[in-house]
Amino acid sequence: MQRVLSGIQPSGSQHIGHLVGALDNFEKLQHGNEAFYMIVDWHALTSKYEAVEEIWPATEELTACFLATGLDPEKATIFIQSQVKEHAELHLLLSMITPLSWLERVPTYKEKLQNSVADLSSYGFLGYPLLQTADIIIYKADKVPVGEDQLFHLELAREVVRRFNFLYRKEVFPEPAAVLTKTPKVPGLDGKKMSKSYENCIYLRDTDPEILEKCTRQMASDPARVKRTDPGNPDICPVFEFHKLFSDDETLQMVNTECRRAGIGCFDCKKKVAEAMIRRIAPVREQIEDHLKHKDHLRDVLRTGSARARQVAQTTMAEVRQAMKLPTL
Ligand code: TRP
Ligand code: SF4
Repeated sequence: MQRVLSGIQPSGSQHIGHLVGALDNFEKLQHGNEAFYMIVDWHALTSKYEAVEEIWPATEELTACFLATGLDPEKATIFIQSQVKEHAELHLLLSMITPLSWLERVPTYKEKLQNSVADLSSYGFLGYPLLQTADIIIYKADKVPVGEDQLFHLELAREVVRRFNFLYRKEVFPEPAAVLTKTPKVPGLDGKKMSKSYENCIYLRDTDPEILEKCTRQMASDPARVKRTDPGNPDICPVFEFHKLFSDDETLQMVNTECRRAGIGCFDCKKKVAEAMIRRIAPVREQIEDHLKHKDHLRDVLRTGSARARQVAQTTMAEVRQAMKLPTL
C-alpha cells in the first residue's frame, strides 16, 4: 500500500473550491492507500499569529468538513499537526542542512511576503515550506495530493530528502511525489480563481438554497450576451465551468448547444446550475452542521488520529536521530 498524505490550514471556512479541488480527492484516495490527512495549525500560525483564537474553531470546522465529505476515521488518519511534536524536531534538524537560498527562492515566498496583509517577515514564515517538508517525510509519504501552487514546495521536499540521504549515507526518506487534482481551477463568482482573498467564494456552510441561487445569479457569464437573443460561448463562461463540475451530462449538453444559439437565457442557465449545486452540496452542508453539534466526537476523532500519526512519526524520528548520530541515553 502506498502512503498518501496531505494537509490543510485551519484558516477560515471551506468553500466549494476545497470540495471539488481537495476534499473529494482525499475521499477517493483513502481507498487502496494508507491515508493521512492533517490539519496544519502550526502553518496557520505563520500568518494568524495575531488571531490565534480563530484557529481552534477553524480546526473543528475543517474536521467536520472532512467527515461530511466522506472521510472515514477508521480508514484515514485525521490528525492535528501540533499534536505530533516530532514534526517540530524534524523541522529543526532539517533546518541545519537546508541552505537559506533554497527557501528564499521559493516563488510563493516572495509573492506572499509582498501581498499579504499580515506582516510575514518572520523566521517562521521563511521556514514554512521546510516545516511542510517535515510534515510529509516524517510519514515517508509516497504521494501528496495538492494544488498546483504547492509544486515548488514538493520540489523542495525532494531536494531536502536527497540531501539528507546523501549526507547521512542512508536512505531514510523516500522522495514524495505530488498528485495533482484533476479538477480545473474552480472559478469564483467573478470568474477569477475562487479564493478567500478575492472575496468571491461560495462557502460550503452558506449553501442554503436561497443564498446559493442568489450567488449564482450574480455570477459572471459570457459578456457578449447582452440581450437574451445574443448567442453565447460556454467555453469562456464561468457558469459553464460550474455546470461541468455539478450538472449531469444531459444538462451539460443542453447548455452547451442551446447557449450557442441563444436557446437558453443566462438567467435560466444559472438557475439550473444552482439546482445542481444544491443537490450536491446541501447534504454536505447538513452533515457539517450536524458534526459541529457533536464537538466531543470531533475531538475523539482528532485525538485517536493524532495518536496513530505520532506512532509513525516517532518511529521515523528514531531512525533520523540514529542517522544523525544523536545520542540515546
Ligand atoms: N502548504 C499547504 C497549503 O497551503 C498546506 C500543507 C502543510 C501541506 N503541510 C502539508 C500540504 C503537507 C501537503 C502536505 O495548501
Ligand atoms: Fe454562460 Fe449559461 Fe449564459 Fe451561456 S447561457 S453565457 S453558459 S450563463
